[in-house]
Amino acid sequence: MNYFEYRNRVLHAEDVPVSEIAARFGTPVYIYSARTLRRHFRVMREAFGGADLLICYAMKALSNLSILQLFAKMGSGFDIVSGGELMRCLKAGADPKTIVFSGVGKTDDEITAALKTGILMINVESRPELHRIAEIAARLKLRAPVSLRVNPDLDPHTHPHISTGHRTSKFGVPLSEIFDYYADARTLSSLEVIGLSTHIGSQITELEPFTEATGKIAGIVEGLRADGLALRYLDMGGGLGIPYQEESPPPSEYAAALLKRLGGLGLKLIIEPGRMMVGNAGILVTRVLYIKDTDVKRFVVIDGAMNDLLRPVLYEAYHEIRPVDARASRPSVTADIVGPVCESGDFFAQAREIPEPHPGDLLAVMSAGAYGFVMASNYNSRPRAAELLVDGRQVHLIRHRETFEDLVRGEPLVDVPADGNA
Ligand code: LLP
Repeated sequence: MNYFEYRNRVLHAEDVPVSEIAARFGTPVYIYSARTLRRHFRVMREAFGGADLLICYAMKALSNLSILQLFAKMGSGFDIVSGGELMRCLKAGADPKTIVFSGVGKTDDEITAALKTGILMINVESRPELHRIAEIAARLKLRAPVSLRVNPDLDPHTHPHISTGHRTSKFGVPLSEIFDYYADARTLSSLEVIGLSTHIGSQITELEPFTEATGKIAGIVEGLRADGLALRYLDMGGGLGIPYQEESPPPSEYAAALLKRLGGLGLKLIIEPGRMMVGNAGILVTRVLYIKDTDVKRFVVIDGAMNDLLRPVLYEAYHEIRPVDARASRPSVTADIVGPVCESGDFFAQAREIPEPHPGDLLAVMSAGAYGFVMASNYNSRPRAAELLVDGRQVHLIRHRETFEDLVRGEPLVDVPADGNA
């Protein structure tokens, strides 16, 4: 459910025609819907009913400050994976006691910053990291709140690049060693062992992997309790898929699947949804530059490219592509929709059937809110797109389009002689 809909066959972002936005701010441009963001947060929270729940929005999915501030105001916590994300969410008004820190490669500086900030907990992924956190906490003369992230060794049935819960992946503590890790952690006096966490993958469109994970997780919690360790937090990570093309289970079914086995454990439940919160709340709008016909194919060349949205080539991801103005009746054609970047992987869709686009037309790439702008780069020296947040009739510019000057900021022009010694 989202608020990008046709009104009189013209695509609107909430109450504003997308064509008006494109004329004012140019293309390519990311447009987010505040109403959709609010709705997704509410739906997720309500799905868990009265359960003791903290939603830690996985901000890696979309980390614009204004969006983070909206989440913070709705009462969301944050799942962070870097010092940069910590800085961003604090700047946006996050309560430190709602921040969890995940990731396999936290640096000393990042651990120090997290501990000094007083975040809720660090999700630990390896034994050397566990000991490093203990050392840093001892040096800072405080106790570090930690949770161990277990790798439950299961197949989440998703793209290999975004599957994390199998034992061959780099993530989490091996299931077979988890009790040993806890025993070790309990001997380190500068640690406060308060949680268990996991994250099995992303864009998961079946309930079964979540159900399988809950069984293994509940077993660990019960085993630890028998050993005299009472945890306070159970962090089940993110991963619920969204309907790019195939249907995904709704939050109500996801919540029921988690609560069935975990609801009675008496722990505070944390979830870290990213995509589910923001995916369908954003679109990428691009303009058609040329129609190029060859003897084998039609290419629709647009002004958006893989540097703006990497998902199609990186994960063979499907994004629906819609004409912004659907008033004219156009025959359906099959075409590759490609950008200007000098790579054959620079496409948004291949062999896609769409109403025949003409040069100058606007196309909307749907469900681009999650892992869209945040994965953008300056490849081919292309400035990154502007980001806009629409709320009813209001359009807020929440990130300026980069300028050419922005592209060379931080690059001193160092003069090295052309005829120097080899
Ligand atoms: N928690 C942890 C520890 C994670 O690593 C992730 C995502 C999440 C939560 C949020 O997962 P979500 O609810 O969004 O599925 N760039 C890829 C997705 C990478 C996901 C990485 N981790 C894509 O565009 O599909």
